[in-house]
Amino acid sequence: MAPTLRSHADVVAAALDVSRFSNDVSRFRQVPNGLDATAHRQMVEILAPFLAPDVVDGLEPTLRAIARQLIAELAARPAFDAVGDLGVRFAVRAQSAWLGWSPEHEPALRLWVAEHRAALRSGEDHRIAATAARFDDIVRLLLDERRGCARDDLTTRLLRLRAADGDLLPEADVVSILRNWTGGDLSSLALCVGVVVHWLADDGARAARLRDAAASDLDAVIDEILRLDDPFVSNRRRALTDAVVGGCPVHAGDVVVLDWRAANTDATVFGPGFDPHAHAAANLVYGVGPHACPGRMLATRQLRVLVQELLGAGAPQPAAGDPAVRESAPGAGWRTMPVRLVRDDAAAAGRAS
Ligand code: HEM
Repeated sequence: MAPTLRSHADVVAAALDVSRFSNDVSRFRQVPNGLDATAHRQMVEILAPFLAPDVVDGLEPTLRAIARQLIAELAARPAFDAVGDLGVRFAVRAQSAWLGWSPEHEPALRLWVAEHRAALRSGEDHRIAATAARFDDIVRLLLDERRGCARDDLTTRLLRLRAADGDLLPEADVVSILRNWTGGDLSSLALCVGVVVHWLADDGARAARLRDAAASDLDAVIDEILRLDDPFVSNRRRALTDAVVGGCPVHAGDVVVLDWRAANTDATVFGPGFDPHAHAAANLVYGVGPHACPGRMLATRQLRVLVQELLGAGAPQPAAGDPAVRESAPGAGWRTMPVRLVRDDAAAAGRAS
């Protein structure tokens, strides 16, 4: 079994030390996360404009409209699942808006997220491979649509992107990039929504105090909520030299696991309790080092907008008689998180009684 690094110091050291740890851990080419050194740096540079601040700022009004409409639909129900109904739908619509994908693909993408989560839960390689192949089919369809008729969107820009050598990126790399982005955006974001909504629903008073929070304070609170219950569990590295890591001897070629969840709750680094600003610098929810998450700003904005719109519409409360269910290993966060949204006047009346 691959040794697992759990302490904050060991995880950070491995993530930063690219001379001793490689990201080349999969038998499949993974762009950009499976690349090392110059190939990785060049790819990160050419992809950076897709996730740049101006792109995220420009997307914000659309994200807000998506969140508002979705929350209005769900608020009309007696209860809804914060992961499946809110998180996955919001993630799919937000990602589709970002990449220029038509809403007609939403059912296929939602089905894919559900199948992908179930396959990961099963741990069965053939199911995981089958969902990866299904995702590739969806993406190839989206690429073919644009080859037939170019559109003014980020997916068309990705198709026309040239690598450092001046050649167009091979289709396999375009598909891999979209798979990497989608893994972050759809699955991780939906799970993050479940964790954040659980925290809000758990204590109505502290949720109400966030209603008028400044954007930067709200971002810090969300990062801290995710640090304490990180749904992005781990990543792998391959040792390039013999070494002792986390107290275990590791040989060149061995795979080691970076356990973000454990490192994020290392009591030697983080004080007890909830302290967004004090814990921000050591927070590892989005990783650290050259492979740290390039989608952090997009994910943070999506979560900020969703929380603002949710709290603006009412107070999320646990749905009576329908307990939340934790996700099982190797996943984390919540599998389902049933909540109801109590509208402002009713929430105020509830607080007064
Ligand atoms: C929703 C919450 C998200 C969380 C918690 C998260 C977390 C992470 C973490 C911990 C890493 C580091 C992996 C490593 O060191 O091996 C990472 C990498 C990455 N993330 Fe995210 N991510 C999120 C959202 C996103 C989004 C929205 C995107 C893009 C749209 C994205 C794209 C990526 C990519 C491409 C990498 C690999 C970077 C590289 O190897 O250079 N992520 N993410």
